[in-house]
Formats: sequence, C-alpha cells, structure tokens
Amino acid sequence: MRPAFIPVPSDGAGTVHFEQQKEMTMKALVYHGPGQRSWDTVPNPTIQAPTDAIVKIDTATICGSDLHILKGDVPAVKPGTILGHEAVGTIVETGAAVSNFQIGDHVLISCITACGSCRFCKEARYGQCTGGGGWIFGHLINGLQAEYARVPFADNSLYKVPSGLTDEQVLFLSDILPTSFEVGVQNGRVRPGDTVAIVGAGPVGLAAVMTAKLYSPAHIVVIDLDDGRLAKAKEFGADVTINNGREDAVKQVLKLTRGLGADVAVEAVGIPATFELAAELIRAGGTLANVGVHGKPATLHLEKLWIKDVTITTGLVDTRTIPQLLSLIEGGKLDPTVLATHHFAMDEAMQAYDVFGDAAKTHALKVVLKGTEVSTETKSKVGITTAV
Ligand SMILES: NC(=O)c1ccc[n+]([C@@H]2O[C@H](COP(=O)([O-])OP(=O)(O)OC[C@H]3O[C@@H](n4cnc5c(N)ncnc54)[C@H](O)[C@@H]3O)[C@@H](O)[C@H]2O)c1
Ligand SMILES: [Zn+2]
Ligand SMILES: [Zn+2]
Repeated sequence: MRPAFIPVPSDGAGTVHFEQQKEMTMKALVYHGPGQRSWDTVPNPTIQAPTDAIVKIDTATICGSDLHILKGDVPAVKPGTILGHEAVGTIVETGAAVSNFQIGDHVLISCITACGSCRFCKEARYGQCTGGGGWIFGHLINGLQAEYARVPFADNSLYKVPSGLTDEQVLFLSDILPTSFEVGVQNGRVRPGDTVAIVGAGPVGLAAVMTAKLYSPAHIVVIDLDDGRLAKAKEFGADVTINNGREDAVKQVLKLTRGLGADVAVEAVGIPATFELAAELIRAGGTLANVGVHGKPATLHLEKLWIKDVTITTGLVDTRTIPQLLSLIEGGKLDPTVLATHHFAMDEAMQAYDVFGDAAKTHALKVVLKGTEVSTETKSKVGITTAV
C-alpha cells in the first residue's frame, strides 16, 4: 500500500515534510451502531482548523468505554465514527496555528482535548472544556484506532514523548493512569499511612493501586468478584484482597482498621452496588472517590452518612497530571507496561476487540495495537530519532 502521507522536499534548504496524498484512504476501526464494528477503508483525516495536527498512529489501545459504546450505552456516538481515545503517534502535518509541535514529533495523545481558553481549561479542568474540547475522540469526532487521526487543539492536547521511553511505557497515560490518579487517588486525598480500599480491579482499579502507592498508604485493600483480577491486584502491590462474592468486605476492612473503616474508598466499577459498598467502607471523616461511570441511580444512604463528616467526590478525568506521570515513568518510579497483557497489529483490531471484550476468559487487562512502522529512511529524513 502506498503511504498516505509521503515525505517530500519542500524548500531549497532540503527540509522534508510529510504531504498528504490527495484522495488517499486509510484503515480504521469503525462503529456502525450497537454491536457492530468493522475494520474499514475510510478517507484520510485532513486539517480542519489551524489548531489541528494530523498524527500517524504508532500504538493504540482499547478502553472499557469503547465496549460501552459498542453496547449502545453512549448514544452520542454516531454510526460511522472511528473508535478509540488512547494512542501514541508521530505528527505528519500541522495546522498554521500549531506552534508547540513540529512534523516528526513523537507524541502522546490525551483522551481529553483542551481548547485552552475556556473557563474550565483555565482551571486545568480540561475534561469539562466548553470550547470544543473534552472527551471527543471516538465519541463526538473520529478517534484514534486508525492509521491516522486528526487532533484538534494540538498544542494543548499532545505531549512530547521523552526520548528513551517506548510507546508502551507511556500509552496508558492517555486515559487510565491519569483517571485513577486524578479522579481516584488525588480526589480521594490519599495520604501516607492511610488505608485505601479500591472497589474494582479492572485496569482502572489496578492503575489506582499503582498510583495510590506513590503516597505510601499503610494498606491497600482491593475488592472484586474475580479471583484472577484479585491475583493481579496482589502483583500490582495490593496488601489485602477481598472477593466480595464470598467474603464480607465491610467486616474485613473494619477488622483491618480497628473498627474505624477506610480513610479512602475508590469506586472503580460503576454500578449501584459498588458505590453503596464504597460508602459503607469509609471511616468518619473519610473520602469516597467515585471513578466508575454510572448508568443507573445509586442509593446515597444519607441517613447513615450525614453524621460521619464524609466527602464524596465525582469526576471525569482532566489528564492534567500527564506531565507528572511522564516524569515518574522517566525516573523509573512508575511502570504502566505491566497493564499490557496482549499485543496485536493495528490491522488485527477486530480480533483485539474480541480478546479485550472477553476478559473473563482471556484475562486481558489492556491490549496494545501496533501501527505500521515509519521507514528508517523516512525517519532520518524528517529527523525522528525516538522509537516509533
Ligand atoms: N471517571 C472517569 O473519567 C473514567 C475514565 C475511564 C474509565 N472510567 C470508569 O472506570 C470504571 C472501571 O473501568 P475498568 O476499565 O477498570 O472496568 P472493568 O469493567 O475492566 O473492571 C471492573 C471490575 O469491577 C469488577 N466488578 C464488577 N462487579 C463487581 C461487584 N459487584 N463487586 C466488586 N467488583 C465488581 C469486575 O470483576 C472488574 O474486575 C468503569 O466504570 C469505567 O467506565 C471512568
Ligand atoms: Zn477510556
Ligand atoms: Zn476549553
């Protein structure tokens, strides 16, 4: 197949740019309505605003939210939308107003884009952006499980991958690491010596184990119905695991904390039962940090909680902690690669969805999709020195 974007000399000084071949197509994973997805041939993305960049996707992954979309739980996603909001890639084209990035830059794409100038962006609450950003990839605009993607507000939505780091080391910073860190651990105000109870040991709950450990809690307790996931939680650093299908989680946490309860409970499932369990686990003065995406109302037992001085937080990830998390990875203090359980080529995305969607059987946590390599010749022409 001919490349969609080809390197061409653009001036007498020998500078090489990628130029999109007109009328070119690419492959992408497309949503066609509830239960329907396919690996389709679609038009290449093009620059639509001067703040856009076009990125060649080198490495991508699938999120539980993509499965929610496929179940029809997110009606805002229109049939024909390319899915995906987590990826690392190489810039092949920039709009005239992009000033922080250049063609050839190796970048992490945040699942949250940010206009940079609305009231919420000014507070680093990018998830709530009212200027056209927020969670739009694979939701309101085409996403990242494709050969190429258009990234709006590129200056605010991309992060240079530090040289020496692999795609897989940084890939999960697009979404689940900042989600568990910001919405779980930071909203929960985890402090040294705390007992932190994490309900749900999916990728988000496990990432909460990893990022809670940064604050040296005394105990991390992980609660799930799946013994396989609980075993993973132990590998990731949980001190105590509880299968709440067999054991009374509240009783166990009270025993561990001399009858007080957990300082922080992180809800990382998204169903009423687990929210209500998390509310029972916290001590007086404790915090319940809800991370789960809920589709149904949950009961808030104010008749028990009103007297307990508790704090309950909710949130959509902002990804404002990506620079901090990148530093932790660079410094060898955080290694998210342990979340990657399966690897596929990008054009095997259909099989990758099957494996990810059947996690109970396949034990998948995160699947990694590798795009085609930029040729060594092209890399040297455009000055790409990092691994792609
Ligand atoms: N707030 C945000 O910005 C944000 C961002 C990304 C994901 N999320 C949400 O975080 C949640 C977790 O994501 P994930 O990808 O880890 O999901 P997941 O489905 O892979 O994992 C959920 C885990 O919960 C366990 N579970 C199910 N029912 C349970 C019960 N009754 N008691 C105990 N455990 C139970 C499952 O066994 C599984 O291990 C989801 O709701 C997801 O939509 C929120
Ligand atoms: Zn996601
Ligand atoms: Zn904004």
